[in-house]
Amino acid sequence: MTERVKREQVVLVVDDHPLNLELIEGCLADVDCRVITATDGIEALELVKKECPDLVLLDVMMPRMDGYEVCQRLKESPEGKLLPVVMVTALGQIADRVRGLEVGADDFIVKPIERVELVARVRSLLRVKQLYDRLDDAQRTIFALARAVEAKDHSLEDHTRRVGLNARHVGEALGLDEEAVDDLLWGGVIHDIGKIGIPDSILLKAGPLNVEEFETIKRHVFIGEEIAGPLRSAHDLLPIIRHHHERVDGSGYPDGLAGDAIPLLARIVAICDAYDALISDRPYRPGLSHSEALATLDRGAGTQWDADLVKVFHTIVNDLVSEPEAATR
Ligand SMILES: [Fe+2]
Repeated sequence: MTERVKREQVVLVVDDHPLNLELIEGCLADVDCRVITATDGIEALELVKKECPDLVLLDVMMPRMDGYEVCQRLKESPEGKLLPVVMVTALGQIADRVRGLEVGADDFIVKPIERVELVARVRSLLRVKQLYDRLDDAQRTIFALARAVEAKDHSLEDHTRRVGLNARHVGEALGLDEEAVDDLLWGGVIHDIGKIGIPDSILLKAGPLNVEEFETIKRHVFIGEEIAGPLRSAHDLLPIIRHHHERVDGSGYPDGLAGDAIPLLARIVAICDAYDALISDRPYRPGLSHSEALATLDRGAGTQWDADLVKVFHTIVNDLVSEPEAATR
């Protein structure tokens, strides 16, 4: 078996004084990492995009853009969210630390730099970053499984991605927080992941399912929960996976929850899932038009789907359909 080659971790050191850069580089000579340097904040932000470092050591007082602003911008960007940042500062005041924490800094080192302390902090934060990376691997794995479900059934191609994108739009229209909006995107993509455990003879059956086959297909919500359950990064998505087939009148599965007892994110994904299924061609029927699909959702509003959310869905999907790219779908 080929041994997995470990990627060398990269540390970005940002300081406007070349002597400080040299000093820190010297201190890190014994740490198993590659050091790259930037002499101001703007260059640092560009390097983060280009080199995807694993840790940033950031001087606070710099021309053009100070360390606080660099840190804040990093933590707000997708590539910087999970990137540990250490502020290196000559300022020992509590107020400066508080400001650093407010902009998302993970740790502080006070100048003059002690080699032993710097090496210990860098080693420990690089280990933390390795853990974050493994979490990312877990996310990639479940996405791959979601794609595998689509590969089993060609009529589902790209279905889950569209469900996720529409669910995210609904979340944004409702003014949900960023985390919930992210969960909707993710949850929309992986909500049917449990179908990987359903036999193809049932999953791909062109005609109507008999009672026994329907009972088998219903199990996909439990199988999905089992697959995603152990993954900490997917924990918040479990209600979407389990409850996306509940109906607001309480006649859905698996728990027969009604109305607001069904988790909000699951109610949103249920509508986006149904809409996309309705407009898609199936082996046994052609897809409905956009307005026919919306009319079907309206008929089921208040029994199958949350009536208020169906109204919100109308607004977002009408906006999307009026965009030229979506109109050609
Ligand atoms: Fe499902």
